Amino acid sequence: MRGILKVIIFLTLHFIILSKAVFSLTKEEKSILVSSRISTHYISQNNPNGCKTCHSSIGYIGGDEENQCYLCHGDSKVKLSIETKKKKLKTVSAGDVSKDFSKPYRHPVEKSGLHNPLEKYPIVDPKVPRHAECLDCHNPHYSIPELPYLGATGVDIDGKFKQYADEEYEVCFKCHGSAMNKPPYQKDKQKEFNPKNPSYHPVVDIGKNNYLPSLVKELNYESKIKCSSCHGADERYSKLKGVHGSDNDYLLVLPYTKKEEVMIPRFDLCYKCHRKESILGNQSFPYHREHIEGVKSRNWQGTSCSTCHNVHGSTKYKFLIEFNPDYVQKDSVSNKLEFLSEGLFSGSCYLRCHNVDHSPKRYGSSNK
Ligand code: HEC
Ligand code: HEC
Ligand code: HEC
Ligand code: HEC
Ligand code: HEC
Ligand code: HEC
Ligand code: HEC
Repeated sequence: MRGILKVIIFLTLHFIILSKAVFSLTKEEKSILVSSRISTHYISQNNPNGCKTCHSSIGYIGGDEENQCYLCHGDSKVKLSIETKKKKLKTVSAGDVSKDFSKPYRHPVEKSGLHNPLEKYPIVDPKVPRHAECLDCHNPHYSIPELPYLGATGVDIDGKFKQYADEEYEVCFKCHGSAMNKPPYQKDKQKEFNPKNPSYHPVVDIGKNNYLPSLVKELNYESKIKCSSCHGADERYSKLKGVHGSDNDYLLVLPYTKKEEVMIPRFDLCYKCHRKESILGNQSFPYHREHIEGVKSRNWQGTSCSTCHNVHGSTKYKFLIEFNPDYVQKDSVSNKLEFLSEGLFSGSCYLRCHNVDHSPKRYGSSNK
């Protein structure tokens, strides 16, 4: 009897939580949710034992929680017993994400004991240890194929905590926005993607530049992309999506080089959405090719897109221009480090790079 009562209490609690989740959704998400209705994990074909798979007499089974998810999302295709009179066995094999979490660049789900479902983000105490668990990005009670992060907590672009994130990036902002415990090399993503910036990749809002000769035909200036368009398992080899782990530096879906010391630099990631022929054909910046590939005859070495562009967004300039201080310094003549846009495909740069002063150097029609 007490068992049944517990189940009723928890179910009631649960549906109160569910109805709140529905209210915080955007129109588009609501319509998807309504058409799919129930979470993947409540469909008996996916999870024949229902709540019991993860809760013992409705307490959480606990332990290292990713191992519980790996019951079905790991490489061991376990057989779950279904509680009929004959105790039938059934194999449930969902996508095996465990391999991606053993890749060199990954979210550290193996660190255990740090997640707390009542945690309020962003973290304001720099001493709080960093972590990332399945449950920080997913809620198995709500997730549906179209919205794998549905029901997870988030932080919006203004830094406000949300019990139910409406957008994928809000999940990421919990730990990669203003969080005080970020590693020092990481920048605040809320600042980089702020729609008030002169330029940004269109994650939070559509972009500001309506003339980009390089964009692939599937995209235009009204397109939005996601963090997971660039970050996640290597899309050439992994059938499964997810910002889990990758062999590529910075957990990227395709190879990308930031450092100049690399023997064979690769910019595949950018060429997924910006046509390589256009960039190297100098259709916008007339000196793209010589900067990217270098000029052998003059013994000039090529450099990365990140030397001139901040791949997320620029708080100062158009075209994502933000020079990487590892390679670019102030011009020794004018003592300035500055970019000036001077009309369509023309501008000036004041800087010093590879011991060459630009005081300034001009391009495009301003190059008189
Ligand atoms: C796939 C695994 C899974 C299934 C199936 C599942 N739960 Fe959970 N549930 C969890 C996990 C994991 C937590 C802990 C969440 C956390 O730590 O962030 C949890 C937490 C809860 C909580 C605490 C409040 C909350 O939402 O955080 C309640 C209540 C609950 N579950 C009820 C249920 C009920 C009722 C069912 C069946 C209708 C169910 N769960 C099915 C994994 C599951
Ligand atoms: C009883 C098996 C089972 C367990 C345990 C389980 N899942 Fe799943 N999960 C599935 C199945 C089946 C799918 C659907 C896969 C497909 O369609 O290819 C799925 C899909 C998902 C998806 C994709 C979005 C969606 O809802 O369709 C996410 C995210 C997910 N699971 C997270 C988790 C997390 C986190 C845990 C641990 C708390 C977990 N799962 C535990 C069976 C399980
Ligand atoms: C609960 C906290 C948490 C959440 C939520 C989270 N991350 Fe992370 N992320 C981490 C931790 C911890 C690391 C390991 C390095 C560190 O401390 O930042 C990491 C590492 C990364 C890295 C690699 C950074 C590097 O220096 O190579 C990327 C990229 C990343 N996360 C992107 C994302 C994206 C995209 C999302 C949203 C889908 C997200 N993260 C959500 C905690 C989180
Ligand atoms: C257009 C592709 C793209 C998008 C979209 C994107 N990133 Fe990145 N991100 C990169 C690249 C490339 C790097 C590594 C090179 C660099 O930092 O210059 C990187 C680096 C990072 C790093 C580690 C270094 C740092 O700057 O902190 C984190 C953390 C990160 N991204 C998180 C995110 C989050 C969170 C989102 C979404 C809000 C996001 N990224 C969206 C391409 C992208
Ligand atoms: C998933 C697709 C995608 C990827 C990958 C991608 N971009 Fe973009 N990028 C876009 C879209 C869409 C826009 C258009 C934004 C607008 O209209 O303002 C854009 C705009 C830009 C702009 C111009 C911004 C402005 O305001 O003028 C630059 C510069 C840029 N991207 C550089 C890069 C670099 C460098 C990389 C590789 C690290 C990269 N992009 C990878 C989709 C992508
Ligand atoms: C840092 C955030 C983060 C963490 C931690 C994380 N995921 Fe995900 N996961 C995502 C995102 C974002 C997507 C959706 C990517 C997309 O839409 O391209 C996803 C997608 C998935 C999918 C759907 C895959 C597909 O191709 O349909 C499954 C299943 C999944 N995650 C399970 C897990 C499990 C199990 C864990 C823990 C072992 C986990 N995730 C940890 C962010 C995360
Ligand atoms: C030496 C600095 C420098 C480097 C290196 C560089 N860019 Fe640019 N890029 C610029 C400047 C300056 C502009 C603005 C041109 C204008 O005035 O419209 C620009 C504009 C762009 C644009 C927007 C217009 C368009 O072509 O669609 C994209 C996209 C872009 N760059 C991508 C890249 C990629 C990808 C790489 C690396 C493979 C890269 N850039 C390397 C300086 C650079």
